[in-house]
Amino acid sequence: MSDIKIKEAPVADEQAQPILTHERSLSQKIASGSEASDILDQQMVMLGIQLVTQLNVLIKTSRIYERTNAALDKPVDAMLTLIKTMAQDQPVTLRLQNDFLFLGNSHLKVNAQQMAVATSIIDALNAWKIGGMIFSLTVESKDLREFAALFVSLDPDNKTIEDLQKEITARGIVGIELEEQRQLQIRQGPGTAGNTGPGTAGNIGPGTAGNTGPDGTGSADLKVQRKMNAMNGYAKVAGSVGTLTQASREGGTASFKQAKRAIQNIIDLMVDDEAAVLGLTTLRCHDQYTHNHSVNVSLLSIALANRVGYPKVELADLGLAALFHDMGKSTIPMEVLNKPGEFTDDDWVAMRNHPTEGVLSLSKMRGITNLPGRMAAASFEHHMNQDFSGYPKLTVPWTISLTGRILTIADCYDAMTSSRVYRREPMSPSKVLNMMLSKSGKSFDPVLLKLFVNCVGIIPIGSLVMLETSELAVVLKPAADKANGERPIVRVITDPQGNSVDHGREVDLTEKDETGDFRHNIIRLIDNTEYKFDTSRYFTLQDAEKVRQHP
Ligand SMILES: [Fe+2]
Ligand SMILES: [Fe+2]
Repeated sequence: MSDIKIKEAPVADEQAQPILTHERSLSQKIASGSEASDILDQQMVMLGIQLVTQLNVLIKTSRIYERTNAALDKPVDAMLTLIKTMAQDQPVTLRLQNDFLFLGNSHLKVNAQQMAVATSIIDALNAWKIGGMIFSLTVESKDLREFAALFVSLDPDNKTIEDLQKEITARGIVGIELEEQRQLQIRQGPGTAGNTGPGTAGNIGPGTAGNTGPDGTGSADLKVQRKMNAMNGYAKVAGSVGTLTQASREGGTASFKQAKRAIQNIIDLMVDDEAAVLGLTTLRCHDQYTHNHSVNVSLLSIALANRVGYPKVELADLGLAALFHDMGKSTIPMEVLNKPGEFTDDDWVAMRNHPTEGVLSLSKMRGITNLPGRMAAASFEHHMNQDFSGYPKLTVPWTISLTGRILTIADCYDAMTSSRVYRREPMSPSKVLNMMLSKSGKSFDPVLLKLFVNCVGIIPIGSLVMLETSELAVVLKPAADKANGERPIVRVITDPQGNSVDHGREVDLTEKDETGDFRHNIIRLIDNTEYKFDTSRYFTLQDAEKVRQHP
């Protein structure tokens, strides 16, 4: 669908006005240098949202007026214009999957104003268990009117989607087809997310299948779906980084397009649920440190840049730059990177050269015509430190870019909380944050560091805490209310005796009782690394599993 020619959109009709509006924004965006095909996709998404809007108007109006009433003219004409604009070589498919709307495969992300309309359509489709509406070029005004009349006259409580489909056929409605809903499967076997890229299977796959029990299946639990989407997104990004790193090692060509799309997808998911996506950065797969690290740094950088106020399109550029900040490591032999013992002096020299080597590696990759400055900066500056105490050492004056400063924080946080970096033992997230705060203004930009603490929380996501009931809980999300920053949202994972509990309850520590006192309190932070707790499981689909406590 991306080869649609926007300029061919009919413009004479009054109903086509919104399309013209978008054409203006299109030219602005092309001028700002985004890729043309991405722009076309974005354009399609905008048209898709208009289609949803007009469909909603049509359905609502049909509840009040007869199918031939002039009140229906406007939404019907607008829908026909939109369908004919979009359905160039294939029909227009509006999909509902797990309460998210899609045009084809593109997520129709709606803003706050469009939310009511989207929710109304989602509810209407859900009532009928409709998973997709397919509009083809053959659709005419009478079909839309007849369909809408049918849609509002039949009662989804008494009729099924098959009944509706039969009626559509019986009434000779053409150009509109319905698809049944397909829930995303919770189970992830081979061939799904775990399979999307080198090395990702090990991170995402194990343990997730265990959630297909009676409580895990078929539920429209938005949280589970978001986790699922986030995990898929994570796996895709990890897959693309794997492919590109491999290509760089082999001196082959590589396209950043796949990675960019994967990053854009992650940004969409993060807008829906930042904590669910950031929770995935607690995944620690020892064999895949480099890939995981790249993805984690990218996610943390995006979250931080989002707080800084980066516009969405720049978030994607930054996320991509962050994803390849350690590209210079592809010049270091695998034997060195995976060395079980201590590094030699030569090894350290190679390690310290990776920021500079990264710029060279990236510039040699033929997949990008112009090495964006942000990518070069991410690689070159991420170990420099605010006070230039890091490396590379420069003999010329230098100003570290915002990208570089963001990367320094995201990189350090992930590296220190991970177990494999430079053979160090991992530190608990809160210890890392304290250590970083002690270097605020020295290694790190103090303002950015404060914003970063807002992202991961004073007691960071993934931390293990003991409640005053002696139950252990894992931090899922920072407190929404910054005044109560030390009261995050947690999931209880053991009973007071320390026995693991399945489906432990989620507790908002800002919740108060009738007397106005906090209902639950943290009495201490537990060092999850000391106790060898793998808290990442609480961010994947393994809640139902027993807590795994390593011996
Ligand atoms: Fe690095
Ligand atoms: Fe790094």
